Formats: sequence, C-alpha cells, structure tokens
Amino acid sequence: MDKIVITGGRKLKGEVEISGAKNAALPIMAAALLADGESIIENVPDLRDIHTMIRLLRSLGAKAVFEKGTVKVKPGNSLQPLAPYKLVSTMRASVCVMGPLLARIGHAEVSLPGGCVIGPRPIDLHLKGLEALGAKNEIQHGYVTSRVAKRLSGAEIYLGGAFGSSVLATANVMMAATMAKGRTVLENAACEPEIVDLARFLQKMGAKIEGIGSPCIEITGVTKLHGARHAIIPDRIETGTYMFAAAMTAGDVLIKKADPSHQNVVIDKLRQAGVRIDKGKSTLRVRGTAKLKPVNVTTLPYPAFPTDLQAQMMALMAAAPGISVITEKIYPDRFMHVSELNRMGANIFLEGPTAIIHGVKKLSGAPVMASDLRASAALVIAGLVAEGTTEVHRVYHLDRGYERLETKFSSLGASIHREKE
Ligand code: EPZ
Repeated sequence: MDKIVITGGRKLKGEVEISGAKNAALPIMAAALLADGESIIENVPDLRDIHTMIRLLRSLGAKAVFEKGTVKVKPGNSLQPLAPYKLVSTMRASVCVMGPLLARIGHAEVSLPGGCVIGPRPIDLHLKGLEALGAKNEIQHGYVTSRVAKRLSGAEIYLGGAFGSSVLATANVMMAATMAKGRTVLENAACEPEIVDLARFLQKMGAKIEGIGSPCIEITGVTKLHGARHAIIPDRIETGTYMFAAAMTAGDVLIKKADPSHQNVVIDKLRQAGVRIDKGKSTLRVRGTAKLKPVNVTTLPYPAFPTDLQAQMMALMAAAPGISVITEKIYPDRFMHVSELNRMGANIFLEGPTAIIHGVKKLSGAPVMASDLRASAALVIAGLVAEGTTEVHRVYHLDRGYERLETKFSSLGASIHREKE
C-alpha cells in the first residue's frame, strides 16, 4: 500500500489541466451496453474505478478497452446478466449496469452494494424506477434479480426521497427508459452535469430525450440504439479540489480544461472567503489570500454545493480564522475526515449532520488515515498548508478518483510524493 508524503508551506503557482469526470464516465460506459455496435468514449480519466468498470463490462460479455484516455466498448449480441459481488463491492457505480441490461436482455442480476464509509447508500429508488417501467425485482442471497417479460414500458415516475434527487437512480432509469415502449416522464430527476452528459451521449446513440438538465426529463423509447462517439465533460470535483488547494495556499493557479459554468457555487463560496477568481471560457484563475474569511455551506443536489467537495471545503475553513458551519444534507455521516483534520490541529466539532469549525491560524503536519476518496483529497490539501510533514495513509482511495494527483500538485510547486508503506 502507498502513502502520500507532503511538506506544507509552499504556495501553489502555475497551471494545471483538469481530467475527464469519473462520475460522468462510469454511467456513460454502462450506457454503451445499450447498443450492440461500438461506442468510443474520449477524455476518460485513467483511474481505478474506470478499470473496474472495464472489468465489469467484460464480465457481462462486452468487449471493452482503455487506451490513452479513450474507452472503446463493443457489447455485441450475447450479453449476460450477472454483475458479481467481487466487482460491485469495490465500486458502487456498478449498479448502473442494471438499466442497460434490462433494456437490452430483459434480465439483470446485480450484487447489492453493501455498507459504505460515507453512510448508508440504499438503491430503493433505482428499483422503484425500474419497477415502474415493468421490471420485477427480487432480492435473494445478496443479489437483486430484475426481469422483464417482454419489453419495458414507459411510465410517469417520481424519483425523489427525503434528501432530494438521486444521481445514479436517474441515470439507471433514464437509460432503461430509452428503449422502453412509449413515453417516460421522470419527475425530480437529478440535474447534475454528469446526468446531462449521459443524456447527451444517449441522444448521440439515437435516444429521444427532452428536458435534459431539468428536474423533469421526458424520454420517448426507441427499439434500437447505435454506438456513438463522445467526449466526457471536465471533472467538476477535481476542479473544485484544485480551486480549494490554490485558495488555501494563498497561491495563484490557472486551472485549464475546466467548465467554469459547473463551478458557480464553488466560485461564490470562495469569493465570500476572500479569494479572487477570474472565469475564462474553459479556465479559472484562482488567487488565494493569506487572510481567508469563514464561510457557511450546506451540501445539496446540484446546482447547490456538492457533497463531494464538503471535506475539501472543511479543510479550507479549518485554516480560516473565525467560525464556519458546514451542514451535510446528502450523506449525514460523511464526516470521517473530521477527526483526522483535528489530528492536524484543526478545531472542528460535530452536532449531528453539522460541523462547527473554529478556524485556526496554522495546521500542523501529522500522519493521517484516508477513509474515502474525497476525505483523502481534503487531507492532502490540508497537508499543503500544514507546518511540517503530513503522511496520508491508505491512498488507494485517491487512486479511485484523482488522476495523477501528486504529479499535478508537484507541477504547481507543492512538495508531495508517493512512497511505499
Ligand atoms: C453519486 O452517487 C456519486 N457517484 C457520488 O460520488 C456522489 O457523492 C453522489 O452522487 C451525490 O452527489 C457517482 O456518480 C458514481 P445519490 P449516487 O443516489 O448516485 C440517497 C464520489 O466521491 N438514496 O445521488 O449513488 C442516498 O443515500 C462519490 O465520487 C436513497 O435513499 O448518490 C443519498 O442520501 C461518492 N435511495 C442521496 O440519495 C436510492 O435508491 C443521494 O445519493 C438512492 C440514493
């Protein structure tokens, strides 16, 4: 296992390029199963989760390869329905092969994703949506088996829960509905840019979808989809992470190949904290300040503040003198990073789903343990400003979601490297 070693105190300066969005690429790779011909997906980041999805597509009988940022998927005509525990348990996004399998072969057997370090992550909405399209779901021996006698049929479906919309449930049901008989209306659909990107890919495959990017998506089913070529959108969570890192180190960083229109809430919060941000067409220049101001944040579905940047925002606020309040509304238990940040001298306490952060003048380097992908990123950026050396252990989490993280931070002047434990 590897660890990342950071010596804090250097201001980040220079340029960094953003990779394609993991959370757009994963459902789009699954969507490629809807055609029998080949799809070519470009700007795919070289990450562990992407390789897990390639393995899953192959185990379902598709041809799938990753080469230099391009994924080619050719499902052919002999797909099989089983998504095994050994793959689903390492990556929950595996569940989004259900919709395409049901649409193509009328049968999916997917291991139920189990517990997760960021809190409970049920799939009841996925099942509710697929059932509304005519699938019969049965849970046995840790697997959900979903079958449809002939063809799925369109329906009006309300896809919400107490927390709001669900990203991957929207993806799953939208994919299934593209080949259902008749019209499907998805109410309370997720509006995340990754869902928009998936819908655009489906349109290129020949799907008929309206209302893309809104909470009401209408799909008119077709009998056949064809392979398509598509380039994945920039990763807005990676973009946000570099924005926070630049802000935190009082640096001056030009972030390239980003989509600034996806970062509005992050830009707003950083400006409130006293950070200067200039937006270009595909660039963001972030100039930090030595005098960060405290800011309050509540995570909610897009276009509000993303849960996937909550930990990184907390690292930033930990070093902004004054009191900030962060409330987590998507995953109320997603706070594993709090005790690790406190080990680095932060002063954060939890009141249910709310973190109260008393910003300190200096964080201090310490050995810390990464618990999930975004918590790991938060510990890395905290390490960039902490006095002395920070060692982030269990970095395999980072490898699931940040392409060439140490190389990118090193090129901005950070003192960071990877070591074998
Ligand atoms: C996606 O997960 C992302 N994953 C997550 O990214 C992200 O944190 C999350 O959306 C929220 O933005 C991918 O895109 C691969 P949800 P997803 O369904 O779709 C509840 C990362 O770090 N819910 O939108 O699984 C759920 O418990 C990750 O990259 C149900 O109750 O999340 C949560 O409270 C981690 N029943 C809320 O909805 C369901 O059937 C939102 O989750 C489904 C979800």
